Amino acid sequence: MIDDDVRVSRATSEELPRCATTMAEAFHDNAEFRWIIPDEDTRSSLLPVFFGSSLRHAAAAGTVLVVRRPPSAAGERSEAEIRGAAAWCPPGRWRPAWWRDLSNAPRMFFAAAPPQLRRFARRGSQVDRAMRDVHPETPHWYLAGVGVSSDARGTGVGSALIRAGLDRADAQGLPVYLECVRELIPYYERFGFEEIARIDVGDGCPDQVGMWREPVG
Ligand SMILES: CC(C)(COP(=O)(O)OP(=O)(O)OC[C@H]1O[C@@H](n2cnc3c(N)ncnc32)[C@H](O)[C@@H]1OP(=O)(O)O)[C@@H](O)C(=O)NCCC(=O)NCCS
Repeated sequence: MIDDDVRVSRATSEELPRCATTMAEAFHDNAEFRWIIPDEDTRSSLLPVFFGSSLRHAAAAGTVLVVRRPPSAAGERSEAEIRGAAAWCPPGRWRPAWWRDLSNAPRMFFAAAPPQLRRFARRGSQVDRAMRDVHPETPHWYLAGVGVSSDARGTGVGSALIRAGLDRADAQGLPVYLECVRELIPYYERFGFEEIARIDVGDGCPDQVGMWREPVG
């Protein structure tokens, strides 16, 4: 059921940690992250740090879009709940390089034990390399990630966050690229994306694909 009250805004810098929490929850059961961080508890503690870093990069380089819970539903809460967030990076600024982001290192050390951190860094780098190998050179907007909290799924939040970025790319005459797990291909095809690359990490990591959308209009 599509919720009429889905409004997309740009996230404020104060909201980025809450956006990271929403993204971490959304991606907790994602097949690729299950491979990178197999242990559930470690995944719960590392993903908010990981998304905190990627969202700071996206906010600095491009835009983090959010859908907040409408004030009526938030009741007395002083901080609006984040129902969903999307990280959009502009042409030429797609690379977050999060495992080389040394400013993030102290947070990482508090979030997981050394053996888990080593595996996270090793597998993360494998994924990074495989993604980089097939990342298109043609200038484009990059949808680095979109995540919707489990209790807000199916209400149009994800579509609104994607559509807002696509509208801007269309207005600028630019294509859009993203990576996703195979299961989401039909979801992104609805927006006009086509599969253009297979991201083969190997070593038991689930396959991902690169998807491309030419500007419309
Ligand atoms: C994928 C995701 C962003 C979709 O957001 P959402 O707000 O639930 O989606 P919307 O409400 O805009 O769209 C819902 C529609 O998409 C369809 N849909 C959802 N997931 C789908 C999938 N994996 N394959 C095909 N269709 C899918 C729903 O069936 C629904 O169809 P309907 O409109 O015909 O009823 C959300 O499920 C999510 O956060 N998933 C976990 C994180 C993730 O995998 N993100 C994407 C990778 S970058």
